[in-house]
Amino acid sequence: MRTRFFLNGKPVTADTTPTTTLLDWLREDQRLTGTKEGCNEGDCGACSVIVTDDSGARALNACILLIPQLEGQAVRTVEGITAPDGTLHPVQTAMIDHHGSQCGFCTPGFITTMACAHLNGATDHDTQLAGNLCRCTGYAPIIRAAKAAETASVPTHMKDDARALKASDAVFLDANETPDAQNEANAPTSLETLATWLDENPDGTLIAGATDVGLWITKDLRTLGPVVFLNRIPALAGVIVTDAEIRIGAATRLSDLHDAIAPHHPSFAELIRRYGSTQVRNAATIGGNIANGSPIGDGSPALIALGATLHLRSVDGPRSLPLEDFFVAYGKQDRAQNEFIEAITIPRQSDALRCYKLSKRFDQDISAVCGCFWIEISQSIVTHARIAFGGMAGTPKRATKAEAALHGQPWTEATVAAAMSALAQDFTPMSDMRASAGYRMEAAQNMLLRAWLEDQGQNTDVLKVAP
Ligand SMILES: Cc1cc2nc3c(=O)[nH]c(=O)nc-3n(C[C@H](O)[C@H](O)[C@H](O)COP(=O)(O)OP(=O)(O)OC[C@H]3O[C@@H](n4cnc5c(N)ncnc54)[C@H](O)[C@@H]3O)c2cc1C
Ligand code: FES
Ligand code: FES
Repeated sequence: MRTRFFLNGKPVTADTTPTTTLLDWLREDQRLTGTKEGCNEGDCGACSVIVTDDSGARALNACILLIPQLEGQAVRTVEGITAPDGTLHPVQTAMIDHHGSQCGFCTPGFITTMACAHLNGATDHDTQLAGNLCRCTGYAPIIRAAKAAETASVPTHMKDDARALKASDAVFLDANETPDAQNEANAPTSLETLATWLDENPDGTLIAGATDVGLWITKDLRTLGPVVFLNRIPALAGVIVTDAEIRIGAATRLSDLHDAIAPHHPSFAELIRRYGSTQVRNAATIGGNIANGSPIGDGSPALIALGATLHLRSVDGPRSLPLEDFFVAYGKQDRAQNEFIEAITIPRQSDALRCYKLSKRFDQDISAVCGCFWIEISQSIVTHARIAFGGMAGTPKRATKAEAALHGQPWTEATVAAAMSALAQDFTPMSDMRASAGYRMEAAQNMLLRAWLEDQGQNTDVLKVAP
């Protein structure tokens, strides 16, 4: 498959298999070995690169980024961070000044992520760098370096990628490139072409952000059959807010969903901020997060609590169902082989959502339990309760017995205690390496109590230590 993009400012054409990762191509084909391979599964950030498209620049993990995902975009590796005349980038100078590197293995990844944040004017360094792991320096000097570079102006060459993309059609035409029929088949630009492809390739693999599929390749060493990329279909991405609903395209990245949902449901946005890392959120899509059917995915409990509807599409047309009905059993979803997820809609409503994610580590960790609570109160009576959990069953699932224990009851500690007991009827959680069954149940019950305490104005945030 041929993919055309910019690499450190120069147009390139990569002739690769559809499942070649950017990391392998950079290191083995281009001999650009500054980009490091640490975990090869999106966890450490050693392979971070900057990718620019029409929507701007974002840090991504090259180890789980497939070359065809880059068509028409611009990649900047650590080799392209220093100016062409050899002048160091301000984050490079700051890392030297603040002793931000010891063995240096993680440093190229930190530099690219920091340079991307610097380009975007992002100064929430803990969040920006949560996906970059360093095992010898310690994070304080690195964060000090990031802060020190904040006020330095963005070097001109760092703006080249956005400029080059604006003129990219001309550049690629100059190279006498013609549209590739194979690419159009494997990376369609319309919903109709995607539906036809899936109908003709019922065993084919859809690839959106590749934060799951990438690991099938790098860790399971799976050989995929026919694949189709979803990132070039404009109708599949983006969030549209109307008076009646919020429509989220299936290929909307978690980072974009975060920004779009924050004004409407801030607790959902905060949950998304805890999802993977900046690099993972910049790649992962909400459609992939639902389609994989994971019982510990973070998107579905929040969306179910919000009363979301899932919209599927195939050559036979569209089909919609409540999101909770999509999850039939562990590993089984209500999706025909020729259907794909097109969008998710949630009704416009005054916010009553509270989401809690419990994981062993605060950042960059999968949930042990994720609880999402939509509880409406009128005149001290619970008029509506929709509660959904991840990590408590083989699928993301509603707590219908706990909901019933709340519905129509006074919003008091006694009612909450009854609903906490009812939760034990809703779920029989399992024990695994993340948590024991008993711990999961107690944590889920306490999340409900936490929702009540917060509503009473008590601070339950363990990160905010009150005097
Ligand atoms: C380091 C790391 C940290 C992570 N942390 C979290 C976390 O904190 N919380 C969490 O919930 N998840 C986490 N994940 C899991 C992962 O990011 C998500 O499941 C992700 O949302 C999948 O989306 P994607 O676009 O990358 O999907 P892909 O990998 O492209 O696809 C995943 C599956 O969905 C299918 N698919 C994709 N789009 C569609 C569609 N539109 N219609 C039908 N099928 C489709 C694919 O065929 C595939 O089977 C993490 C992953 C990594 C690597
Ligand atoms: S090598 Fe660890 S995230 Fe890519
Ligand atoms: S400097 Fe050694 S891992 Fe970060």
